Amino acid sequence: MFALSCYLFVGLVCQSLGQYYDYEEYYPPSGPEVLSTASCAQECDCPINFPTAMYCNDRNLKFIPIVPSGISYLYLQNNNIEEIKAGVFDNATDLRWLVLDHNHITSDKIQAGTIDKLTKLEKLLFSHNNLTKPPSPLSKSLDELRMTDNQLTSFPSGTLSGMENLTTIHLSKNKLTTESITGAFKGLKSLVLLDVSENKLKKLPAGVPPSLLMLYADNNEIDSIPNGYLAKLPALQYLRVSHNKLVDSGIPAGVFNVSSLLELDLSFNKLKTIPEINEALEHLYLQVNEIEKFELLNICKFSSPVNYSRLKTLRLDGNNVTHHMMPDDTSNCLRMASEIIFE
Ligand SMILES: *[C@@H]1O[C@H](CO)[C@@H](O)[C@H](O)[C@H]1NC(C)=O
Ligand SMILES: *[C@@H]1O[C@H](CO)[C@@H](O)[C@H](O)[C@H]1NC(C)=O
Ligand SMILES: *[C@@H]1O[C@H](CO)[C@@H](O)[C@H](O)[C@H]1NC(C)=O
Ligand SMILES: *[C@@H]1O[C@H](CO)[C@@H](O)[C@H](O)[C@H]1NC(C)=O
Ligand SMILES: *[C@@H]1O[C@H](CO)[C@@H](O)[C@H](O)[C@H]1NC(C)=O
Ligand SMILES: *[C@@H]1O[C@H](CO)[C@@H](O)[C@H](O)[C@H]1NC(C)=O
Repeated sequence: MFALSCYLFVGLVCQSLGQYYDYEEYYPPSGPEVLSTASCAQECDCPINFPTAMYCNDRNLKFIPIVPSGISYLYLQNNNIEEIKAGVFDNATDLRWLVLDHNHITSDKIQAGTIDKLTKLEKLLFSHNNLTKPPSPLSKSLDELRMTDNQLTSFPSGTLSGMENLTTIHLSKNKLTTESITGAFKGLKSLVLLDVSENKLKKLPAGVPPSLLMLYADNNEIDSIPNGYLAKLPALQYLRVSHNKLVDSGIPAGVFNVSSLLELDLSFNKLKTIPEINEALEHLYLQVNEIEKFELLNICKFSSPVNYSRLKTLRLDGNNVTHHMMPDDTSNCLRMASEIIFE
């Protein structure tokens, strides 16, 4: 339970502030005292009150030290590690969290018999490295996978198969194309967050599981949303497709008319009209598009004293509309709105 709430908090806050997460959040949960015979690697620290954690971060390491048995949480971020040599994890059969962020590891320097042997691994944090493809095979027990800011061009479809507990995937700031991720997320029963922003996608990822709550695809080259795409994602609450190439002809009628969605970010695209939304939507971001008129009907389909939009935020700044274009009956329908921004 800790892991999920931690991730939810971190994920939302980081995304909305555009910041990277704080490692404080990733320090292991304190629990009952665990007996460990771990003999700490001399380059690292193993706190006496936390014998299952080994801290080797921020110390200019070029290699991963041999990890003794009994270690569950391993921190190696902010070093100069270039490779993962055979043998380093031979005795680390209890490893649950592996933090490798901010190193220089390339895919061809990950020896077989290392990461693939970690059968209890839950968190693999591998951002800001030089990976061109994900390490494979990966442990089926993963619940969180972060590979932001690498050089990923390939993500083979079997990479994540059978990971029934995987809830979070961060792949932003890579070079993934629509083709390179085909089938990659199929069948992930527990997936709630998928971040593929800042890649080279021309389409939203296909075959994403219906458990998904958040889908972030900002800063790609997406020009259309497939018809019925959201109808297949009945739990989706947050959809972000800002800084893409969306045009009106790429938005099928009613594609956003789903009652699960709370936040829809379509800012920095090329839309000329306000797309039709469901009255349950709370936050609609349309700033910096090419919108020329205010079509109330697309926002308030069934406006009446008892039927009104749940919209709280509506951003229309950076378009060619002014508040004078809002029809007189707008305020009745948009009675929940606390933030309508035109310029
Ligand atoms: C693993 O543990 C065994 C038994 O304690 C030890 O003999 C061996 O050297 C260890 N291997 C590594 C790579 O640390
Ligand atoms: C990553 O790889 C590229 C070329 O593939 C190289 O130019 C760059 O220096 C590498 N960066 C790191 C951090 O290793
Ligand atoms: C998923 O989590 C459950 C409950 O913790 C566990 O029993 C199961 O083995 C896990 N699945 C995998 C593939 O590790
Ligand atoms: C939007 O969805 C609702 C409920 O699913 C449906 O009743 C309504 O006809 C749809 N509206 C349009 C314009 O498709
Ligand atoms: C309220 O809106 C729904 C569709 O969302 C519609 O079916 C219903 O007739 C409307 N009710 C009134 C009183 O306008
Ligand atoms: C904005 O709208 C006005 C009035 O409808 C029109 O005269 C003007 O050319 C439009 N500007 C742009 C940049 O489309």
